[in-house]
Formats: sequence, structure tokens, C-alpha cells
Amino acid sequence: MCGIVGYIGNREAYPIVLKGLERLEYRGYDSAGIVLYDGQDLQLCKTQGKVLDLKKKSEKENITKGHVALGHTRWATHGVPNDVNAHPHYSNSGNLVIIHNGIIENYASIKEELIKRGYVFHSDTDTEVLVNLIEEIQKHEGVKLGKAVQIALNQVVGAYAIAVFDRNKPDEIIVAKLGSPLAIGVGEDEFFIASDASPFIEYTNNAIYLEDEQMAIIRKGRDVRVRQIDGDKQVAPYIQELQLNLEQIEKGGYEHFMLKEIYEQPEAIKDTYRGRLRINDGIVKMAGLEDNIHKFLNAKRIIVVACGTSWHAGLVAEYIFEDLVRIPVEVEYASEFRYRNPIINSDDVVIAISQSGETADTLAAIKLAKENGAFVFGVCNVVGSSIARESHAGAYTHAGPEIGVASTKAFTTQITVLTLMALKLAKRNGRISQSEFHQYLAELETIPAKVERSLEVDSHVKYISSIYKDVANFLYLGRGYNFPVALEGALKLKEISYIHAEGYPAAEMKHGPIALIDEQMPVVVIATKKGHYEKVISNIQEIKSRKGKIIAVVTEGDRDVKLLADHVIEVPETYEALTPLLTTIPLQLLSYHIAVMRGCNVDQPRNLAKSVTVE
Ligand code: G6P
Repeated sequence: MCGIVGYIGNREAYPIVLKGLERLEYRGYDSAGIVLYDGQDLQLCKTQGKVLDLKKKSEKENITKGHVALGHTRWATHGVPNDVNAHPHYSNSGNLVIIHNGIIENYASIKEELIKRGYVFHSDTDTEVLVNLIEEIQKHEGVKLGKAVQIALNQVVGAYAIAVFDRNKPDEIIVAKLGSPLAIGVGEDEFFIASDASPFIEYTNNAIYLEDEQMAIIRKGRDVRVRQIDGDKQVAPYIQELQLNLEQIEKGGYEHFMLKEIYEQPEAIKDTYRGRLRINDGIVKMAGLEDNIHKFLNAKRIIVVACGTSWHAGLVAEYIFEDLVRIPVEVEYASEFRYRNPIINSDDVVIAISQSGETADTLAAIKLAKENGAFVFGVCNVVGSSIARESHAGAYTHAGPEIGVASTKAFTTQITVLTLMALKLAKRNGRISQSEFHQYLAELETIPAKVERSLEVDSHVKYISSIYKDVANFLYLGRGYNFPVALEGALKLKEISYIHAEGYPAAEMKHGPIALIDEQMPVVVIATKKGHYEKVISNIQEIKSRKGKIIAVVTEGDRDVKLLADHVIEVPETYEALTPLLTTIPLQLLSYHIAVMRGCNVDQPRNLAKSVTVE
């Protein structure tokens, strides 16, 4: 993963790059580093730990001056997280310096060759190999930096977004991309480089998103020259106007991004269906779907590919698509799908779900699907992301930037988009009547207000959290539409509080997890009125008789579960297919409060990263 930031222009680069790194910390925070060119020489500062540690160190060492800088925040792949393995990395001569997001798979053989030629390596990283390879080509072939980078990249196998600077050529930075994202902010006489646009949003609204296998020579005060890596073809750079604003990427008074994003859900869901859900016209308007509706209607099967929370949204989609549209759906972990030689037919529709639009496995899965003739529809949050661009068509979730590593509003907005899609398709293939369609739309329109009401349980959930914050295990149970919610609730708790948690279909509990239940074990049961209510009550009885502690998420006004559960959390009533949008809210809050009470870093949980651009 990793985040990269760069600046070349007339301002002091240090504050820009440092702030940018903070904004990109969601991509990794094992170590951080910065290199500055102060007009004469390079100054490097790097450290294990977070950007804040880097700030302290660089200010102490007085490494803050220069109008050119490259910065990096790392999620370790090759080499443990320590000062030496932190980026940027110098070449042996000290002339070149590089930052890199990605993996060079064939680094070992290149390294061996370079060692034979006298190169010395200080770190365990693949990146240090790449910068020395570039230096070797520069020396050996007598070519300019841009050409040397190009030749080197044609020799490496892997994924990268890189920026390379040569202190002998201080007016330019070379960048290149394959598999990892890279945006260039275009200002007046200045340029910014970053893994996404957030580091430069207050400076410019103009950005160039490099495509895979493209590189660019960024020339201070002049221009950006884009070309293909595998040839000499120049490409006219396409400058895009950004929609992002600064307020969207700041905490806005909340203690954590995660809490802010939980509370943003009513608005985010509205933003998702705005302009699409048109009750008065009796339609769902989604251009990407409309233009390709026959692909869906003629599909023998829909395959959903995704990872993590997005995979859980895919499971909810399976229920709603099969329930309403009656097209068979398979939900696959992208990482399994891409390597298991799956059967893919040209009449399959593949829906790729991804908040970031950059997840390497999901990206690879859709490439495979395309190669096999399937139609690929992307459901992404980040506009212009790789998965969005790689898909034949798609729909954005419009949730706004999600910074907290644990996904919250991305999940509910993905479900909203997928629900809109299912409703549109079900109406078109006649599986639901006009009046059912209308009722669904009307109910969907009440969801933001109902999410708002679901958030009112916050202080009660906080109280429940205080009781269970020290337990070692949690079990989450749900049936039907709420089975994926149980999985998601357990994932949230694991991710940010490091408590072991398992999500299970409630009825499967008796085939294993029931053995774990004793008086120490809290069991979160989703027991809303719509959806196998009586059966879930029987499951609650089974837990109760083994002395497990029951935290039940119920429909407002519920009486029966109240008599059995240790704690109940109420959410408003809605259609069964829409319950995940409400039941998931208290589970997000539960994991949030428990993590805060345990002193965990909620927005940057250990070992995780928001955008997983390595496989
Ligand atoms: C990482 C994140 C998860 C996310 C998953 C898939 O593991 O920590 O929150 O669900 O990647 O990411 P995507 O961007 O493809 O939805």
C-alpha cells in the first residue's frame, strides 16, 4: 500500500508534503519519511512510526527547507517496519532518491545482479533495488533520467506508483504508475504528486490521474509530459476537475474520523440516491445501468467480487438480487476468484464492489473477468479510481471521502446503490409490480431519517460497551439479510479493538460455535421483526440456556426478545431487505466505543491499511 506525496514549485515544500502524508496515513503508517532539496543538496529524514514521529524528528534535525520534496508513509511489505526500510531511498551514489507504493516481485534477481556489479544495499526493501537499477542504467547506457526510469520499469515485474528525483536535475520529478494510484496536481508554476488528490486539494482543483503503464516527466514551472512506459508514445495529459473539498477530509469536531463517518451516514445515503431515486417519476435513474440493462437482464448469472467490508455488501446484494430480480448471484472473495481458475462466461455480469477502487485483488479479478468476455460493472466510492476506470460501466456510491480505516459509510452506501440497482432491474424484468417498486422507493427514502434514529442509541451502546470492553471473544449472529451484517459487525470489532469476534448465520451456531458459549461470552444477535424473527428467538433461547450474554438488536417496540436478552438496542422498523442499513449502525457504534475504551487507535488500527494495493 503506502502513500506517496511530492511537491515541486516555489513554496516551502515541507508543510505541504507533511500535511499530505497525514492525509494519506490511511494507506499505511508503519514508517514515514521525507526528502527535501534545498537548492544545493538533498536532506533526508525518516523514521519508524507515524507522520507525527517524522514531524518531531525532522523539526529536531532541522530538515524542513526546500522547494522540492518527496514524502512517504509506509505499509510494510518487504522488510520490517524500521528506520532503514522507511522510504525515501537513495541510490548508491546519493544522486537519486525514490518513493514507491507497490511491490517489485523480481527484486531478488535484480538485486543479485546489482550486487555483482558492486552495489551495496542498506535496507531489505525492493524499492532500494529499483532506484539502484535506475542508476545503473543511467550510468551504463548514458541516458537521461526519464529514459533510465523507463528502461528499468520495463525490466521489473510488479506494481508501483513511484516518484524519482535526481539532485543533478533539480527541476524535474519523474513519476510512473502500474497497479497503484498516482495523481498529479497541476497548479500555477507548481506541481503536486500524491496517491490520491487529498494532499493537494487546497492548492489546486486540477489533477491528472496517470493510467497504468504510464509515466510522466514533471518539469518545474513548465509542464507535465506523459508517455507510455512500453514505448515512446506520448499521451496528451487529461486534466480533470476535482469535486473534493477540504471540509470533507477533515474531522469536523468529531474525535475520530470513524465516528464522523458513522454519523455522516444519513447524509451519505441521501447523496447516494440523490438524483437516482425519483419517486415522482416512478423511476430509478442510473445511467451506467440503464445503458447496459440488457447485459443484466440477459445475464445467466451475476458474480460479485470484492474484499473485506465490500464483500459483506456483496453478500447483502446476493440476498436482494436473488430475492427481487431472480438472477442467480455468486459472491466471491476477489483474492480467491482471481487464482482459482473460475468458470466465467460471456453472459456473466461481474459486479466489482470497492470503496477505494484500488484494491489489488479486486482489480485483478475484474481484469480476469474481462479477459473472459464478462461484462464488468464497478460500484466504487473513489471517483476516477482504477476499478472505476477498468470497469465497462458502473455506479459511484458518492459517500464522500472515507478516512477511518474501518469502513462504515462505504458499507451502507454500497448497499444503497446495490438496492437501487436491484429495484430497477426487478421492475424492468417484471419480477416486482409497479406498486411494490413504488413502495420500496418510498421506504428507501425514509432510510436516512431512520438511520438518524438508529444513531440515537449511541449513549446506550456506549454503556453496553463499558460492560463488555474487556472480554476476549464476541459472537455475532444474524439470519437472512442480517447474516452479512453479523459478519460485518464481527469484522468491525476485530479490526479496531483486537477482540476476537466471529460472525455466524444464527442457525449454524449449533454446528460449532455453541461450544464456545459460557457466561463470559457476549453474543450479539440481530433479531428484528422482519426476517425469521421466531427462529432467531429460538436461537436466543439456546444461547440463554448456556448462560451466554445476549445483546440483541431489535425492532422498536419489541417485547419478546426484551424478556430474554441482557441488553436490547432498538432500531426503527423497515422492509426486511433494507434492515441491514439500520442494524449495522449500532454494531459500528459498539465496536467504536469498545475500541476507544480499550485505548486502541480507532482510525489507524495496527497492521491494517485502508487501501490494499498489494495482493
Ligand atoms: C481493507 C480495508 C477494509 C476494506 C477492504 C476492501 O482491508 O481495511 O475496510 O473493506 O480493504 O477495500 P475496498 O476499498 O476494495 O472496499
